[in-house]
Parts: sequence; structure tokens; C-alpha cells
Amino acid sequence: MDSGPCLKIGPVLIPAKTIQAPLAGITNLPFRLLAKSAGCGLVYSEMISSNALAYGSRKTLQMLAGIPEEKPVVVQIFGADPAIMAEAAAIVESSGADIVDINMGCPVRKVVRTGAGVALMRTFKTAEAVIKAVRRSVKIPVTIKIRSGWNASGRQALGIATIAESCGVDAIAVHPRTAMQGFKGKADWSLIARIKEQVLIPVIGNGDIVSAADAEAMMKQTACDAVMVGRAAIGNPWIFEQINHLLCGKPVPSVDLTRRFRGMKTYLRMSVNYLGEAQACRMMRSRLGWYAKGLPYSSRFRESINQLRTEEEALEIIDKYQAFLHKKLVI
Ligand SMILES: Cc1cc2nc3c(=O)[nH]c(=O)nc-3n(C[C@H](O)[C@H](O)[C@H](O)COP(=O)(O)O)c2cc1C
Repeated sequence: MDSGPCLKIGPVLIPAKTIQAPLAGITNLPFRLLAKSAGCGLVYSEMISSNALAYGSRKTLQMLAGIPEEKPVVVQIFGADPAIMAEAAAIVESSGADIVDINMGCPVRKVVRTGAGVALMRTFKTAEAVIKAVRRSVKIPVTIKIRSGWNASGRQALGIATIAESCGVDAIAVHPRTAMQGFKGKADWSLIARIKEQVLIPVIGNGDIVSAADAEAMMKQTACDAVMVGRAAIGNPWIFEQINHLLCGKPVPSVDLTRRFRGMKTYLRMSVNYLGEAQACRMMRSRLGWYAKGLPYSSRFRESINQLRTEEEALEIIDKYQAFLHKKLVI
């Protein structure tokens, strides 16, 4: 794939400057593979509890499953206890992940209450202890993903970035909204630029990219080393290819119906392979609809899949919808 100049995180070579953001409950192996097949340079796992990893939860350990086709892959862990985070990071490394990421951005109450996620940005001492412990416990690169901070000052992000760099962190991803903001308002890209000016390690810009033009604008405005896309890649992995093309000065390819439907089927097939037919079909009831967003009669399509039980049934409904649309759009 010719996707333009690449990026290095520690010794790990990233073949494009586009990164799939970690999305809890979404960025499982099939989702990551789809992003990768659409040109994404680097994919993140969902956030994984360090406690659950350290205590050997079978279900959580299964979340570490990966395959060579998705490499390089980042596994993100969350927690606030340095020793447990170190243990979890070592488990992540031995599972074959290329990079381990520390979640310092999750604002969900259940996580923040334990001092983890974005709460680490309020307590620099704990954040530093966690980073140092993780850094010491693994040889693979360590990254952090942060928000602006707890409140609007932005100083927490700048402070944490300095601490992280001095502790040997290899890259920082920045979603410049505060904990208090959640997903409201706009991401403050100027903070990405300030962090980029302050540290020498790669800075990954994140927040509100919904098109290739947004990604290009973020890179121009902030000088960030790569762009990370979250919500806009749900149901639209092709955004990575479009960004790659624009960053290389090539025309941005549009996504036709055939590719969309092929993507749907690939996602279905990979989910069946990875999760088994019953679980995959339950999941597909809400997920296949993502790939039909904006298409005519998509609500009727979504209704028709909300009781899915088998892969065969899913394929039949997808084919029927595709044929219907082709006929409609040709006439
Ligand atoms: C459903 C959902 C799940 C998320 N899960 C995580 C997560 O597990 N770890 C994390 O660091 N950020 C998580 N985020 C935040 C995203 O990674 C990203 O920072 C945020 O959505 C902003 O990027 P965007 O505007 O491109 O979506 C999540 C966001 C959403 C919407």
C-alpha cells in the first residue's frame, strides 16, 4: 500500500499516518482488521482493565487475541496501581502486542472513581508512578492517551506530556477535551500544537476528524505527527484510505456501494470467525447498520437485521438490500 510517509513509535514502523482510536466495546479484532484493510496505519484495542488482566480473567485475556495481519497493534490498559499496571503491561507484551498504551483519558465515572483514566491527569505523582512502572516492566514502546485535563486550563496536559517524555514514553495521543466536557463542545486543536512544540516524541492528534480534509487541517494547524480517528471510522473505515491519499497529494477516492457492501460482508465473516456465529450475529444486529448510514432505506435494512441468528440469513439480507439499491439507483 502506498500511503505516504510513515511514522516511528520507538522502533515500531507505522506504514501510514492514520490511526484508529481505541473505542470501548467496538475496536475488537474484526473491527481493527477492517480498519487495517482500509489503509489504517495503526490500530488500538479497546481499553482493557489492568486488574482483570493481572487477576487472569479468561474473558479479559481473550481480548488480547490478535493476528499478524493487524500488526502493528497497540493494546490499551487502564488502572491506577503502578504494580498492577506493570504486571498488566508485561502480560500485554507477552501476548505479542507491539505497543502498550496507558489510558489517561477515560472520563467514565466507574473508571475515574478508582483513580484511573482521566483521573490520572489530576494526580501527577500517581501518573508518574504508573508510567515509570509500566516503562520498567516492558521492552516494547509505551504510549499514553490523554485529554486536555480535568478542567479548562490545559496545564494538566502540558504537565503530563513533560512527565511522560522524561519517563521514556514513546508517543502521546491527545484528545483535547477536558474530563468535564465529555464529548461536548469542540476539541481544542491548539493544545495539540502546544504539546507538539513542547516535546520531541511523536504527538498524535485526535478529536473531531470526520473527513480527509479535517485530518489535513489538523496536521497543518498542529504539526502533529499522525492523526487518530474515532467516531468517524465507525461504519466508515475508508476514511483512513481517504486521509492517506489526501496527505500524499493524491485524489481522494470515493466509496461506492460495492465497497460498502463488501466491507459489511467482510466484517460479518471476520466476526463469525472470531466470535462464533451466535455471538457475532447478535452483535451484527446493531453493527451492520453502521455501514448503511446515509443510504436510502437504511432504516428498513436496520429493522430487517435486528433479529439476525445466522450468517447465511445475514448474507441473504445484505445481498437483497444491495441488489435493491443497485436497481433503485440505476433507474
Ligand atoms: C464509544 C466510544 C468508546 C471509547 N473508548 C475509548 C477507550 O476505550 N479508550 C480511550 O482512550 N478512548 C476511548 N474513546 C475516546 C476515543 O478514542 C477518542 O479519543 C474520541 O472519540 C475523540 O475522537 P473522535 O472525535 O475522532 O471520535 C471512546 C470514544 C467513544 C465514542
